[in-house]
Amino acid sequence: MRKFSLALLCLAPTALAFQLPFSIPFFNPKPTAQIPIVPDDSPTATPRVAIIGAGAGGTSAAFWIGKAKERFGLDVEVDVYDQNDYIGGRSTVVYPYNDKNLRELELGASIFVEANKNLWRATDEFNLARRDFNDEDYETTIWDGENFIFTFNGGWWDTLKILWRYGLSSPRKTESSVKDMLNSYLSLYSSDSPKWDNISSLSTKLGFDHLVSRTISEHLLAQGVSSNYIYEVVEAATLVNYGQDADSIHALEGACSMAASGAAGVAGGNFQLFEQFLNRSGANIYLSTPVVGINSKASAVPSQRWTVESSRGSQKYKGVILAAPFHQTKISVPKHIEAQIPAQPYVNLHVTLLATTSPSPNPAYFGLEPGSKVPQVILTSRANARRGGKAPDFNSLTYHGPIRDGEWSVKIFSEEEITDEWLSEVFGAGKVGWVHRKQWKAYPKLPPTTTFPPVKLDQGFYYVNSFEPFISTMETETISSRNVAELLLNEEFKSGICGPETSQDDASDAAKPSHDENWVLGWDC
Ligand SMILES: Cc1cc2nc3c(=O)[nH]c(=O)nc-3n(C[C@H](O)[C@H](O)[C@H](O)COP(=O)(O)OP(=O)(O)OC[C@H]3O[C@@H](n4cnc5c(N)ncnc54)[C@H](O)[C@@H]3O)c2cc1C
Ligand SMILES: *[C@@H]1O[C@H](CO)[C@@H](O)[C@H](O)[C@H]1NC(C)=O
Ligand SMILES: *[C@@H]1O[C@H](CO)[C@@H](O)[C@H](O)[C@H]1NC(C)=O
Repeated sequence: MRKFSLALLCLAPTALAFQLPFSIPFFNPKPTAQIPIVPDDSPTATPRVAIIGAGAGGTSAAFWIGKAKERFGLDVEVDVYDQNDYIGGRSTVVYPYNDKNLRELELGASIFVEANKNLWRATDEFNLARRDFNDEDYETTIWDGENFIFTFNGGWWDTLKILWRYGLSSPRKTESSVKDMLNSYLSLYSSDSPKWDNISSLSTKLGFDHLVSRTISEHLLAQGVSSNYIYEVVEAATLVNYGQDADSIHALEGACSMAASGAAGVAGGNFQLFEQFLNRSGANIYLSTPVVGINSKASAVPSQRWTVESSRGSQKYKGVILAAPFHQTKISVPKHIEAQIPAQPYVNLHVTLLATTSPSPNPAYFGLEPGSKVPQVILTSRANARRGGKAPDFNSLTYHGPIRDGEWSVKIFSEEEITDEWLSEVFGAGKVGWVHRKQWKAYPKLPPTTTFPPVKLDQGFYYVNSFEPFISTMETETISSRNVAELLLNEEFKSGICGPETSQDDASDAAKPSHDENWVLGWDC
C-alpha cells in the first residue's frame, strides 16, 4: 500500500524531525586551551596540514587523513581551526529554556538518509543512536498563504487523495527521476568512484548536467509531471529543505529534497558525529580561533609553503584545506586565489524555535472556524503567490513533540524574522514561552548553473565547500572532504586515504574485487 511512498515522503523531510524524549550522554572534547601556537619552523619538523572549519566538511577531512595515519603511519600533524567555541558549524543544538534536561532541538541541519553512507556508517561505528522520523504519525498539510491545499496523514486514504488530485503518472515520474539520480549518486561510494578537481566534470561523469543546468520545475515538466504536482508537492519539499521554490532551484538539489525516504538524525544531536570524527582523527583542535590570513612563500621549504595566521599566531603548513564557504570566512588570501572563487549568495534563513502550550496552531490565523484542528506539520507552496495571491509568511511550521506535560516545541523556517506579535497570533496570546531565533546563511542559492568553484585553489590548497552549489548537505560535505583529502595526500604525500599511491594505469585493468553493499569507500579499502 506504500506504492506511492515517494509522493508521501516528499512531504516528510526536515519537517518531521520529530524527536523522542530521551537524550544520550555525549563526550565533551577538551579543545586545546586558548594558548598561542608555537610555530615549528625547523626544516625537519613533521609536515602539517591546516583545516579551517570544524563543521561536517572540516571534521570529516581530519577523519579521512586520520585514516591514513592509522592505516599506514602517514607522518603528518593536522590542526583544525574554528572561530566558534563548538564543533559542528551548521549542525548544532539548543535546549528549550536552555535546560539540558529537556530534549535538544536541532538549530541547523537535522536529517540524513540511509543513502548517505558516510553518516550512516559513522553513527554505527561511533555507537550513536539513530532516531528514525516516522512520517505517518503526523497529519501534514500544505498552506499556500490563503488556503490549505492538501492535507493527509499517510494512510491508504491519502494515497487515493493524491491519485485523485494529481493522477498516477506525476508521482510515478517524479519518483523514477529521483531514483535515477540516487543510483548515480551511489557510485560515489564505490571503489571506482571518480576523483575530481572540477565539479563540472564530476557532474558530467555522474550524468547530472541536465539536472544542474535547469530548474526542478523545468525538468519535471519536461518529464510530463503536472504543474500542480510540481508547485504543490515538489515545491513544499524544496521550500522546507532549501528555502527555494521550484522555479529557482536546480533539478539536482530539487531531486535531493525529495529523496528523504528513511530520514534519520542522531539522538542527542547530529553534532556528535562531527565531534567523533575529530576525536578519532588525532588532530589538534583550536576552537574560538578565527583564521585571518592564508599566505604562501615560493622561497619557503616545500613542506612549509603555507602560513596560516589566526588569533593565536601563525603556523606553517604543507597543505591547507578550507572547509567553510570562502566569502563568509573573511580570510585574506593571495589575489590570484581570491579571483578564482566566484561570488556565492547564500539563503538568509530565519529559524525560530519555541515552546508553546498550544497543542496546535490557532485556526483563526488560517481562516478556519474556531475549534477546527490545524495539522502540526505545515509545509508551504507559492502557487497562490504566483497567481497574484498572498504568499505564506513562512516556509514551514512544524511541531516537534512534547517538551514536557502540556508544552510542545515548534520549529519555524522563514525568509523574514518572525515577530512576537506574529507568534501570539498563530499560537494564542500568552501561549508562547521560550523562543530562540537564529539567522543562518543556510545553504547556497542554487539556480541552474554549469560552472562551479574550483576544488583545488593552488598547490596543496583545497576547497571542500566547492561542492555546496552542486549539493549542500552534511553528507555531501563528507564526500567532498574525502575527495579533497585524497587529492591533497596524492599531491603532497604520494599517498592516499587507503595507502601509498599505486600507479592508476597499472591498477585500472586489474580485476576489481567485488564488494558487498555495505562497502563504503574511505571506510573500507
Ligand atoms: C537551518 C538549516 C537546516 C539544514 N538542514 C539540513 C538537513 O536536514 N540535512 C542536511 O544534510 N543538511 C542540512 N543543512 C545544510 C548543512 O547544514 C550544511 O550543508 C553542512 O552542515 C555544511 O557543513 P560545512 O562543514 O561545509 O560548513 P559549516 O558547518 O558551515 O562549517 C564551517 C565552519 O567554518 C568556521 N569558520 C568560518 N570562517 C572561519 C574562519 N575565518 N576561521 C575559523 N573558522 C571559520 C565556521 O565557524 C563553521 O563552524 C541545513 C542547514 C541549515 C542552516
Ligand atoms: C576521544 O574521546 C574519548 C572518550 O570518548 C576520550 O577518552 C579521548 O581522550 C578522546 N580523544 C581525543 C583525541 O580527544
Ligand atoms: C572545469 O572544466 C570545464 C570544462 O571541462 C572548464 O570550462 C572550467 O573552467 C573548469 N573549472 C575550473 C574551476 O577549473
